[in-house]
Amino acid sequence: MTENSSGNGGVGVPAGAPAPGEMASAVRTVRDLARQHSARFERSIPLIASENLLSPYAKELLVSDLHSRYAEGLPGERYYEGNELVDRIENLTLELARRLFRCSFADVRPISGTVANLAVLKALAEPGAPVGTSRLADGAHISSAAFGAFGLRGVRPVYYAWDEARMTIDVARTREILRAERPKLCLFGLSLFLFPMPLDELRPTLEEVGATGWYDAAHVLGLIAGGEFQDPLREGCTVLSASTHKTLPGPQHGILLAETRDDAVVQRLRSGAFPGVTSNHHLHAMAALAVSLAEHLEFGREYARRTVANARALAQALHDKGFDVLAAELGFTRSHTLAVRVVREGGGADVARRLADAGIIANKNLLPGDRSPKQPGGIRLGTPEVTRVGMGEREMGRIAELMDALLHRGRSVEEVAALAAELKHGFTTLRYCFGAGEAAYRYYDLVGREPNA
Ligand SMILES: Cc1ncc(COP(=O)(O)O)c(C=O)c1O
Repeated sequence: MTENSSGNGGVGVPAGAPAPGEMASAVRTVRDLARQHSARFERSIPLIASENLLSPYAKELLVSDLHSRYAEGLPGERYYEGNELVDRIENLTLELARRLFRCSFADVRPISGTVANLAVLKALAEPGAPVGTSRLADGAHISSAAFGAFGLRGVRPVYYAWDEARMTIDVARTREILRAERPKLCLFGLSLFLFPMPLDELRPTLEEVGATGWYDAAHVLGLIAGGEFQDPLREGCTVLSASTHKTLPGPQHGILLAETRDDAVVQRLRSGAFPGVTSNHHLHAMAALAVSLAEHLEFGREYARRTVANARALAQALHDKGFDVLAAELGFTRSHTLAVRVVREGGGADVARRLADAGIIANKNLLPGDRSPKQPGGIRLGTPEVTRVGMGEREMGRIAELMDALLHRGRSVEEVAALAAELKHGFTTLRYCFGAGEAAYRYYDLVGREPNA
């Protein structure tokens, strides 16, 4: 078996029992690659807006015995035995979630943001129903696409109008669309999320057409909790779905939150989560989420404030270096994310690849006005992770210098990679969590020896 073997059968797949030592070698290879991966990120500048680092206490729970168990249902109403302590963990997680987001309802069973979105669709929309959302080219997540969660539930997207200059929904034109289409569910939230959604302005129209407001906070969950972004559950949205591992630096998982007195909505959301779109809900991740929620209650305000300040500082520094950072006249961003049009520098795909080779990890991104989804004109940058390891506005200036050196001044990939590693060297431990100061990129070797033949 080689590292490059692929496919699920057929040509190229060895038949029969493994050769002596072959599988131990496979295990060694995976461990080795994972170690190399950790080392790579330790010396890189990670600017993916949807990624973050887990605190040591949260990480520890991922390898606990909770990983091995099932707990279908809700605390006190399980389908399996042995769940009494899991029930206590889940109740605590729910309590922390309701407290952090100041809401009456939480469900921590969706195992990702996409699964949380599916749970809402299952709960609050029937196949064929019109559901309001944004277009992918305007920054929406693939959940809203016909080939994503919307398509899976069979709902019909009703697209809001977009104001390109302000990088947000065009309220006047969207009001008309909502009045004409009368969707009963309206989703707000983006993957390229620079500015708050105009919820206050649209709220009367949602009420007029009888639509429930639904907010996908996958990207901005930690900013909302930290008081640095809009607060959708107090601005007319009833339901919020999210991932728990972006600006909220938690485990890869999902969450549903709601502020409602309507028991029927609560019951529908619960049954959307289970049995609708999950069976078991990954108890190890749920326990890690409890830790992350507690940590965010303790450290989240400061972390969210610095994350946004860093995004604005990075945007300004790039702008000063001649990059076309979107929404300059609006202060670039009010979130953790900024968008840069890099057509002059070679286009999104090429620039993202060159940056990655030079140790600056970002992603290509479609920007409004892009003609071809295959040739995105931009890159998306985010500051959750660099903030988490303690970088501040000075380091944002330095990152802009490195990008300028690579993309405008013809410095080599190798040179910039060395400078990026040098910059990162002072920022490899975790902040804004219990156990701050622990290594952020450590590979945890639980066994202490390699598997033998
Ligand atoms: C707005 C939005 N919703 C949902 C998701 C999906 O989250 P997950 O990857 O946890 O399924 C993402 C992922 O980036 C997102 O940006």
